[in-house]
Amino acid sequence: MNVLLLGSGGREHALAWKLAQSPTLTRLFAAPGNPGIAECAELLTLDASDHNACIGFCQENAIDLVVIGPEAPLVDGLGDSLRAANIAVFGPDKAAAQLEGSKSFTKQLCDRANIPTARYTEVFNYREGLDALGDFEKPYVIKADGLAAGKGVFIAEHNDAARNAFIEIFGTDKMDTVEGSKAVIEEFMTGEEASFFVLTDGETILPFGTAQDHKRVGEGDEGPNTGGMGAYSPAPVLTPELQQRAIDEIIRPTVDTMRAEGMPYSGVLYAGLMLTDQGPKLVEYNCRFGDPECQVLMMRLQGDLAAIMLACAKGELASVEAQFAEETALTVVMAAEGYPASAKKGGAIELGEAEASGAKVFHAGTAMKDGALVANGGRVLNVAARGTSVTAAQKSAYEAVDAISFESGFCRRDIGWREVERENPQN
Ligand code: AMP
Ligand code: GLY
Repeated sequence: MNVLLLGSGGREHALAWKLAQSPTLTRLFAAPGNPGIAECAELLTLDASDHNACIGFCQENAIDLVVIGPEAPLVDGLGDSLRAANIAVFGPDKAAAQLEGSKSFTKQLCDRANIPTARYTEVFNYREGLDALGDFEKPYVIKADGLAAGKGVFIAEHNDAARNAFIEIFGTDKMDTVEGSKAVIEEFMTGEEASFFVLTDGETILPFGTAQDHKRVGEGDEGPNTGGMGAYSPAPVLTPELQQRAIDEIIRPTVDTMRAEGMPYSGVLYAGLMLTDQGPKLVEYNCRFGDPECQVLMMRLQGDLAAIMLACAKGELASVEAQFAEETALTVVMAAEGYPASAKKGGAIELGEAEASGAKVFHAGTAMKDGALVANGGRVLNVAARGTSVTAAQKSAYEAVDAISFESGFCRRDIGWREVERENPQN
């Protein structure tokens, strides 16, 4: 089959790398791709927001499946447009992508389907926001309703911080309702966070691995939030029993309610879970693979990714299986100096012998300049390795990191620390 993959990050490099190994694959195209993806796919320029151009390319090149990597084109309805032209798509329609695109949509769905999640209220202006704080304890969790590329969530320890969050979201401290703006205030949940991935065609649910990531830029999980500085899979805290509870209490009711309400969900559903004293609770849904969680899932996936994704897109997920290696995969993000505030572009990169001992370097934000590899984004490289434990995978990943020359880059040295501590209690 011929596949078109949309996206340009480390997640898409990992998908391209795995798709390229699929026995059922004939040609793999990627748009816009990156220098890493160029090693396993034919790159092209195609604007994902130009739905007609995407349809035209698929028709001219006999594309059997389009894999949409990032959330923005999904929330924008590219899946609907392609499906209307009879092109199979891995990824949800616009209505179903609201699970990521609107916090308020997801919270209301949790109400209707009785899904465990943080108690919440919706507010439409600054004044309503301030008034509602009285119903919650500190720290306040305040979220902008729409897609915010990870920047729309505020954990406010004090009223001042809460005020600033509302000003940020509504753009004003005036009392008027701001057309189109909405915020959600949530109860703060305590516990350990873990990510659970499933594929679904709207009916069948195929568990697709667990992971934990490190969102903060600094060691010990301190400092500003980022897209993720590293991840590992599986996440041992998400035991088989907790995974089953998450399916029964969170994922299954979501998939069934979406179908019953005429918005069947097709694609990967990524549940961010809080493992609380009362069991797993939903923090958020994403309508795409996590980045860098996808990289570690792909390091473990066995079997034909293209065939699995096509079965999902065609509503035939019940006919396929997904096997993952038992080994741990761990990835370290190498970011450009200044990330996440303002990342320095253009820094020289030499990968050297980083992949010599079985590690894999996925490109996230790189470019070729005058025939040489340079940094071209905040998160630049994802260095991934496998091992028989998190400790072993971490050691191999950092050996690969140390083989790379990237002077204007940095990385955290403690990815996986929670599990490494649990695996080595004597230290
Ligand atoms: P979200 O984009 O909704 O996943 O939020 C980003 C991060 O904020 C999550 O990964 C959590 O670490 C944190 N967070 C979000 N909602 C809550 C909550 N209700 N209680 C505690 N932490 C939260
Ligand atoms: N690594 C977190 C995310 O992809 O949303």
